[in-house]
Amino acid sequence: MRAFLRFLKGIRAFNAVRRFGRASTYYNSKYLQIFKWTIQSKEDTNYTYFITDDSKLNIANAVAIATNAPVEQVIQYMEEAEGDIELKDQILKATKASDLTNFSDNEVRYGRRLGWYAAVRVMKAKVVIETGIDKGLGSVLLSSAILRNQAEGHPGRYYGTDINLKAGYLLSGKYKESGEILYGDSIESLKEFKQEIDLFINDSDHSADYEYNEYITIKHLLSKKGIILGDNSHCTDKLAKFSMEEGRHFLFINEVPKNHWYPGAGIGISYPKYK
Ligand SMILES: C[S@@+](CC[C@H](N)C(=O)[O-])C[C@H]1O[C@@H](n2cnc3c(N)ncnc32)[C@H](O)[C@@H]1O
Repeated sequence: MRAFLRFLKGIRAFNAVRRFGRASTYYNSKYLQIFKWTIQSKEDTNYTYFITDDSKLNIANAVAIATNAPVEQVIQYMEEAEGDIELKDQILKATKASDLTNFSDNEVRYGRRLGWYAAVRVMKAKVVIETGIDKGLGSVLLSSAILRNQAEGHPGRYYGTDINLKAGYLLSGKYKESGEILYGDSIESLKEFKQEIDLFINDSDHSADYEYNEYITIKHLLSKKGIILGDNSHCTDKLAKFSMEEGRHFLFINEVPKNHWYPGAGIGISYPKYK
């Protein structure tokens, strides 16, 4: 039998089919997910999804390393965000009231943004900027982190930038108290910005040069503990290179979507070298 199998494997065409079958087992479930998503989801862009437990744990560890904080605390903050029913209700309410309700799902899925939230909480960040906000899922989540910090005696403010005047409708209800949106080209808004920044998240124009220019524009504003989260780091090396130029550490952690065809993005993290 073994000899016969060895003989078959020696036939190039047979071997090609066998190897094709083996390799495709890694991707076949994706087609089912694509089919389900086509029927069930209304999202057209900036897809949202849950991420796997392993992925959450990896993100928590990366955030803990970059913020020099205990990982247990980071995990606790990620769980706090996911368990915040009031926040979820507000997001669903704002989604229903929006023009884009026909392109949104009736479920709140933060994905890697849970890591962004935990960074604000653990750092007690005073000033947070997110460039490129789309509907405002990151905006409202980050503003909720600031509200919680505030309630614990650590005031802060969120600033989002977007070129699209309709962006940011999810930043609503009480969450609007701790955040605001600067409309217009992101780099133009950043040039006018004068406050020290604890957390900067790049997620606007995803071209590599634009991303790099955002970092160059704000680098003099970064606080001593200032951290940059890059939402383009699964596609470009710009945050890694910027970090090397500026004598900062860099790490990248990917996210793994749960039951979704999208391969996932990740979080690039540029952080100071702690003594
Ligand atoms: C990927 S989405 C942002 C997603 C968002 N951060 C989130 O958490 O869901 C990118 C956004 O960047 C905005 N954008 C693109 N070019 C821009 C620019 N030059 N200045 C400001 N915003 C820009 C787009 O309008 C879009 O809303």
